Formats: sequence, C-alpha cells, structure tokens
Amino acid sequence: MTATADTGASGAAVDLTDPRLQSDPHGFFAELNAREQPVPASFPGVEQQVLLVSRYEGVRAVLSDRRFVNNPASIAGDDVENVRVKRLMDLGLTRDQARYLVDASILDMDGEDHTRMRKHVSRTFTVKRVNALRPRVEEITERLLDELPGHAEDGVVDLSRHFAYPLPITVICELVGVPEDQRMQWGDWGRRLIAAAATGGQLDALEGIVATTRELIGQRRRTPADDLITALIRTHDEDGDRLSDIELVSIVLTLILAGHETTAHLITNGTLALLDHPDQLRLLQGDPDLGPRATHELMRRHGPVQATRMRYASEDMEVDGMRFQRGDVVFAVLGGANTDPDVFSEPDVLDLTREPAGRRESHVGFGHGIHYCLGAALARQEGEVAFTRLFERYPNLSLAAGREELEREPFPLFWRLKALPVRLG
Ligand code: HEM
Repeated sequence: MTATADTGASGAAVDLTDPRLQSDPHGFFAELNAREQPVPASFPGVEQQVLLVSRYEGVRAVLSDRRFVNNPASIAGDDVENVRVKRLMDLGLTRDQARYLVDASILDMDGEDHTRMRKHVSRTFTVKRVNALRPRVEEITERLLDELPGHAEDGVVDLSRHFAYPLPITVICELVGVPEDQRMQWGDWGRRLIAAAATGGQLDALEGIVATTRELIGQRRRTPADDLITALIRTHDEDGDRLSDIELVSIVLTLILAGHETTAHLITNGTLALLDHPDQLRLLQGDPDLGPRATHELMRRHGPVQATRMRYASEDMEVDGMRFQRGDVVFAVLGGANTDPDVFSEPDVLDLTREPAGRRESHVGFGHGIHYCLGAALARQEGEVAFTRLFERYPNLSLAAGREELEREPFPLFWRLKALPVRLG
C-alpha cells in the first residue's frame, strides 16, 4: 500500500462514479469498511482528491469534531479553495451569488454562526409543531391513497409521482406556508436543482427559487399567518437578535427543498424494500405499532442520503486513529456506517424488529453532531404514516416492473428511483 504524500489515506482511489455503487451498494460499502481509513476517492466535479470515512465510529467521530468545518472560509488564513463556491460558479453563478448561497446556508455554517442560526430555527420548528401536524399528515396520506386508482394507466401507477413526492411536498409547504398553487413548482425545482448539482447541469432553477421565496417572506411580513415563515420572521433571542433577510430566504428554501426531496425517496426506497421482503411486510401489516421501528430500520438500510456534505479539516489532526491534514476534504459515508458489522449484526439483513443498538437512534442516516437533520422527527413521522397506511389500504400492492427495469438517478450517494411503477392489487 502506498500512502499519499499529504494525507493519512492509502491504497487505490475509489471512483465514486463506479456503477457498483448503484448495482451492489452494500458490497461496495463492505469493501470500503474493510479498508484502512480514510479511503482516497475521486468525486465528480471536485478536482481535489477527497477522503472517505465509512466505519461507524469514525463517521461519528468526524461529524462530532468541530475541527472539521463545513465552510472552508472558516479555516483561518482562508487559503483553501472553496470547492463548493467553485462548483456553483462552474454551474453558471457569479462568485457573489455562489458565496451568498454558501455563506448564508445553515448547512455551510460553522461555529457560533451555526449555533445562532440553528437556535433560531429550533425555536420555531419544534417537536410540538411536528407532533401537532400528525393528524394533517394522516389526512393528506389518506387523500392521496384515495386518489391513486385515478392515476392508473393500464392498471399501473407511478407511486413516486403520485404518492411519495406529493405527500412530503404538501406537508412541508403547509407547514412553511407556501400557497397551494406553487407546490408542484417547488417539486420541479427541487428535482432540477439536485440533478444540476449532481450532474453539472445549469442551476437555472435557482433564480426562480430565490425570487419566489423573497416574495413569500414579503407577503408574510405584510400579512402574518400561523405558519413557519411567520414564526421565523418573528423569532428573536433575549438580546433581540433576529434572522437577517438573506438568512430567512436561505432557511426557508432549505426547509422546503430538504423537507421533500429526501423524504420522498425514503418513501420510495422503503416501499420497494418492503415489496422485496414480503416476510417483513407481513410483520408490519400484522402490527401497525411496529411503524416507528420499521421506519428506523428502513432508514438504516435504505435511507436516501448515503453521505453527508463535504467537511474540511481545519488543522492537521488524528481522529479515531485516522490522520488528516489541514485542507483535506472529507465525506462521511453514512451508508457504510449504517452497515458496519461491528455495530449491526447481520447488517445486510432487513429486520423491522431490530432493536436499536443501545442508542436512541443507532443509525446515522440523519447525520450526527451539530448538523444533525432538523427535520428528522417530521421525516420519521411521514415515513411511518406512509408505510403503514399504504399497505393497510392496498395490502396486495405489487411491483409492476422487473427489478432490472427500475432506474436509479445517477447520483452516487443519494439514492433516488426515477419511478416506482406498482399495481394496487
Ligand atoms: C440536515 C438527512 C428530511 C431539513 C441533514 C443531514 C442529513 C439529513 C444526513 C446532515 C447533513 C450533513 O451533516 O452534512 C435527511 C433525510 C431525510 C431528511 C435522510 C428524510 C428521510 C428532512 C426534512 C427537513 C430537513 C423533512 C425539513 C423539514 C434539514 C436541515 C438540515 C438537515 C435544515 C441542516 C441542519 C444543520 O445544518 O444544522 N438532513 N433529512 N431534512 N436536514 Fe434533513
């Protein structure tokens, strides 16, 4: 094995466009986990070599170590090229536009900036608000299930288009305060944005997204309502600190986009997994109380997000036995951690009755540390209602295509099916 000159990574670089990441992801993760960590890799659109950390303890150690930052500008001296800004510029934005988007985004904030932003959002987007939403999530689910037969063509319905997407889009838009006639437009923007970011296409959807979000915030300033936008406009701390205009735009669009693009794919991936494991599906159908645990296990094994955003090492350091140099770009591979045999027995087996391994939530599919997913409670609730109600209503639902016909989007670490054709039975 040859160690690279400037990092602790050794061995051949992994190609993250390897088709095996699509065809045999768990075999791929198992090989990654067996290698000395961190593992060097190449990532589409990033010139610099990136480092992968995939074992459970290593992933948690990296994500909870504040010496890893999300925004390279946080590194003193600022001599690390901001890969994310550069990528946005490659996609057609000016440097200012790209900086504006990166620097005001909660996902790209570090240290006190992040603590402050997160505090404001957590004050408004509370567990109480999510719990109060449950009857509405159930109502929306039932309505969409009622409508499914009407979408059938030759008896086949695309469950992704007519259930998995509209459910979280409707829920997050109602919660945030997006008018009904704009909702499908947001769904389209979300898909285009993700495709652009993953494939190097133009980010032309962004202009519309920012303009529409600004307009929504302006309307709520004039006419407050019982929604999250109004709460975010009003929230302030003891010292009167508030979110700035640009922070408001950034958090509102992040909540809408993060709030549906991910959950939609938890629902499609999870439904497909249940169809693939009829014994497990029968368990769930026989005991709807299994919903929360089943959703936990489906997130572990089939979650939509298989890696966090890039982290940058702010200094030379050793973390969980791994060496990093200042400026290293690191990906925490959540899918590797969630199938680490040191933590999960028979990690490739889908077992809806699996006990979380001594931790409240043992998988890291929602991340870990200070950037832990703000919408996890909502996503779990939607997943649970979707899986239990779908199979209650359509107990004989079946796949209407061969496994080999199901197409995944070509994004290596974000698992998205293009469509999920089913027969309702
Ligand atoms: C952060 C996954 C649903 C809002 C994250 C992170 C992950 C994640 C892995 C951490 C990223 C990192 O550390 O680089 C998921 C998955 C979801 C889901 C798998 C659904 C199954 C949601 C929903 C919302 C949401 C429903 C909002 C309503 C956010 C926000 C952050 C975040 C705002 C940034 C938190 C911060 O930087 O402090 N999510 N998410 N997510 N998620 Fe989610």
